[in-house]
Amino acid sequence: MIQFPDHFTWGAATAAYQIEGAAHEEGRGESIWDRFSATPGNVLNNESGLVACDHYHRYQEDIQLMRELDMGAYRFSIAWPRILPTGRGQVNPAGLDFYDRLVDALLAANIEPFVTLYHWDLPQALQDEVGGWGSRETAQAFAEYVRIVSHRLGDRVHHWITLNEPWVSAFRGHEAGVHAPGIRDTPLAWQVSHHLLLAHGLAVPIVRENGDAQTRVGITLNLTPVSSATTSAEDQQAAYLYDGQHNRWFLDAVFKGGYPSDVLTWLRDMMPKMDAADAEVIARPLDFLGVNYYYRTLVRQQAGQPEVVRPAGAQLTEMGWEVYPQGLHDLLVRLHQHYAIPHIYITENGAAFPDTLSPDGHVHDPLRIQYLHDHLLQAHAAIQEGVPLAGYFVWSLMDNFEWAYGYSPRFGIVYIDYPTQRRIIKDSGYWYRTTIAANGIAS
Ligand code: FCB
Repeated sequence: MIQFPDHFTWGAATAAYQIEGAAHEEGRGESIWDRFSATPGNVLNNESGLVACDHYHRYQEDIQLMRELDMGAYRFSIAWPRILPTGRGQVNPAGLDFYDRLVDALLAANIEPFVTLYHWDLPQALQDEVGGWGSRETAQAFAEYVRIVSHRLGDRVHHWITLNEPWVSAFRGHEAGVHAPGIRDTPLAWQVSHHLLLAHGLAVPIVRENGDAQTRVGITLNLTPVSSATTSAEDQQAAYLYDGQHNRWFLDAVFKGGYPSDVLTWLRDMMPKMDAADAEVIARPLDFLGVNYYYRTLVRQQAGQPEVVRPAGAQLTEMGWEVYPQGLHDLLVRLHQHYAIPHIYITENGAAFPDTLSPDGHVHDPLRIQYLHDHLLQAHAAIQEGVPLAGYFVWSLMDNFEWAYGYSPRFGIVYIDYPTQRRIIKDSGYWYRTTIAANGIAS
């Protein structure tokens, strides 16, 4: 038996836009993802989060599922446009009431809520009026939103995550343009990354003010262990720069009080505008780091720039992502060695495989069981080496709207039959339940 530490947190994660649906109900405002999805060609099959898993109406049934799976915690996000339909100013009480009910129902089921304050669904009004995250005003608006939410829920929610994956918001949304708001402007993307981090830093003391002695605040980053594809000096340099652009930019800013100098030098005229005081705000002490781990990255140099190389012979998920469990171990150990991080939670880890509902009424997903098993073994090894890993959240509780890929990739440990909205626990869900109950993995 591979035994996890006592009080290890076991949970699953979701995000508002990916599961809630009810996009026009009870005063919710438009988000950049509503607008982006409504534009033909942006999302596979032109799908959107309009209905999603209808979680807004079925949250009680979904909490029942979590109970059935024996989960101790649930990570979900709050939709900013439900709370402030135009991003600032007028509050929508029905939106606050929904999350109030959700939190109470979770606590009644003995499930610890882990709340993400921003999982990519910016109110469209802020995009239209000030240019969204391209403007410092959006960081201020975020602080106002966080004040309202934490004031309402801070007596019961003790784990807060300010942002989910600011790298993705900034660069998939403003450089690649494949996520909302669909802009392709590299200097803007760097500016956005700074405003997101600033928003994070502004939010931290607000959450604490509205909480109590049990309040814990952190940020979730998507991190990838980067290695050079070869031993050549150029490729190694490229790998180091890539690591700086994707990992250290965020980690150093949050945990070391400043951006990495090699990336600052590389940015030259793309350097974001910032105030002298921002660095300190961004580096306000945190209680934990949330790590989303999906794959490693191999890099070589191509025309003076880092270029990602596909590892030969790798097993890939339906997203085309390499299955590389050891990367989780390597990443966790490195974080522990290079940064002073009090606690780490794996806030996302999981895989999309082509699941089908079989005639026997079950969803047999042995690949996902293997994936979770292998990653948990690596997480366990990291704990043995002293990494303060406090919990693990599977992505995802249920199949959902996978952003630009729509509903095709299925990441859930619960299957959603979209036409009927029926929930069916997959084999991996039952496997996870066994793991949780044993607080470990049968070896
Ligand atoms: C992460 C996102 C999450 C989900 C997974 C597959 O980047 O945070 O919402 O889409 O990828």
